[in-house]
This record gives sequence, structure tokens and C-alpha cells, in this order.
Amino acid sequence: MAWHDQDSWLTAAFSPNLATILLTVVVALALPIILHSFLYRKAAAATALPTFLLVGPSGAGKTAFTTLAERNATTQTHTSTTPRTVSALLPSPHLPASSHYRSAGDPALERARRFLVLDTPGHGKLRHHATSTLADLSKIRGIIFVVDATALGEEAGLNEAAEYLHDVLLSLQKRYTNATSSKAIPVLVACNKMDLFTALPPSLVRNLLEKTITEVRRRRAKALRDAGAALSGSEDEVDEEKEWLGQGGDGPFTFEQMSECGTGVDVLGGNVVGGGSGKEVGDVGDVGKLWAWIAEHL
Ligand code: GTP
Ligand code: MG
Repeated sequence: MAWHDQDSWLTAAFSPNLATILLTVVVALALPIILHSFLYRKAAAATALPTFLLVGPSGAGKTAFTTLAERNATTQTHTSTTPRTVSALLPSPHLPASSHYRSAGDPALERARRFLVLDTPGHGKLRHHATSTLADLSKIRGIIFVVDATALGEEAGLNEAAEYLHDVLLSLQKRYTNATSSKAIPVLVACNKMDLFTALPPSLVRNLLEKTITEVRRRRAKALRDAGAALSGSEDEVDEEKEWLGQGGDGPFTFEQMSECGTGVDVLGGNVVGGGSGKEVGDVGDVGKLWAWIAEHL
């Protein structure tokens, strides 16, 4: 009897909005969990480190620089076969451009110094690793195209570098014309091995690359036209304009033309491995300009 009394009292207390009460309980329990996971994911995305992508012909010094950025020392390197990401810290006195007004010792400043370096193999047959990263640049803050400044004096070295750089710049241009809104990705042409006396100065590297890219562009367009003629009438004709790097017309290609698609191109010199005695392990060279460029875009 008493049992039955209690039961009916409970039913009376809850019956008007049993569904509402249950719903409230569920929401009260679930909301903090949902909110937490949502906020946590946002925070995780915000703290993802900016990545600088290293590309360029084989033997240019990409892995040497990666090792330097990772350990502050260089070691003997071998030609790379797989891409590798390392985490690095911008050395002082360089300051990330985003933190110029922070004071020393501010933990936020230390965090702002952190970035990732993505090293890719430069060998022609392994370039698909770099190409696949170039196809999705969402995590890339800047692209560093490393060249061996001593290799550009010869036609083969110059052609290889110019063709590779042409393709990198073209993929940036396509990304810009295809996307509705995307952040600009700056490019640095890092002329490495300036410690060697056969190294060409950066201003000359710039001129030679611009001139050779002009030729590469013309060659590619001709190949496309020939292929188009062979395929004429078929469905898969290529849009030639989209494959043309920089400004239209017959004028020479210049890096300034890349500003049309939001990409600034700088050409700076340095040497990852030390001067003087040459290739001693751990001998740190002069990459101050490289750090300064990274700082500017960090
Ligand atoms: P891949 O992995 O094949 O794409 O080449 P990479 O660009 O990673 O070249 P890597 O860093 O392996 O360097 C090639 C060679 O150049 C190594 O023997 C380095 O020690 C040497 N090297 C790199 N930077 C410099 C430099 O500034 N000066 C001199 N003299 N040698 C350098
Ligand atoms: Mg390498």
C-alpha cells in the first residue's frame, strides 16, 4: 500500500513534463562534452605550427638546411628519398614578424618562434612528393626553393632549376586563379653554397632564372599547342591560358609578375655549410638572410 502511494506521488510529480525533464538531463550532460570537444578542436587547429616547404633540385642543400634548423648543426647528408618534417625554433636575434611588440621572456613569443620545415627529395623521379604537397598548400606558410648557386653556371643545372621553379610558380598561380579566397604564399629562392668561389651572386641567379623560365614557358606552350593540334576536335583540349605562367604576351617573364597572383618572390644568398675549411661536420655557415626571411613571414 505504502509502496503504491509513493509510486503515485512520483508519477504525479514528474508526469506533466517527463519528456522535458529527460531532455533537460540529456542536454545538461551532453552540452559540456560537445562544447569541450568543439573548443578543443579549435584550439588545436590554432596551435598548428606554420610550415615552410623546401623544394629545389637534388644536391642543393635542402636536407643540410633541415638538419641545421632541427639541431643547430649540420651533418653529412645523403640524397633524400622521402619527405621529412622537423620542428625548428627561429634563432635569436630574429623575431617573428607577428610578435614584434612582445617582450623577451613572454611565453607567447617563444611559441611564435616555433615552425616546421618540410624537406622533400629533389631527384626528378621522387619529385611527386613535393608535387603532392604543392597540390594542397593549406598548411604551408612559405616555399623555399633551394638552388646550388654553383650549379647554375652550367646549362643543365640552370635548365633543371628553371623547369622545377616554373612548375612550382605555375602551381601557385593555378591555386590563386582557382580559389575564391586563399592566403598568399611567398617564395624564397635561396642561393646556397655561396661559400664556394664558383657560386653565382644572387642578382645573377635571379636574371638567369627569369630568362630561362621565359624559355621554359615558351617551350611548354609550344608542346601544348602541338599536343592540341594532334588532339584537335577531341574533348580533352587543354586551356592554354591556364598553363601560361605570369603575364600574357611575348615579353620576358619576371618574378614581379607573380605579384599578380599574390606571390612575392625573393632571391637571397647564403651557405648552410660553413665557409673557410669547407665541409667539416657541424661547421655552421651563414644563413642569416634565410632566418630573416622566415622571421618576416612567421
Ligand atoms: P636531395 O635530397 O637529393 O634533394 O638533395 P638536398 O637538396 O637535400 O642536398 P643535401 O642537403 O643533401 O646537400 C648536398 C650536398 O651539398 C651535401 O654534401 C652538403 O654537405 C653540401 N652542401 C649543402 N650546403 C652547402 C653549402 O652551403 N656549402 C657547401 N660548400 N656545401 C654545401
Ligand atoms: Mg635531401
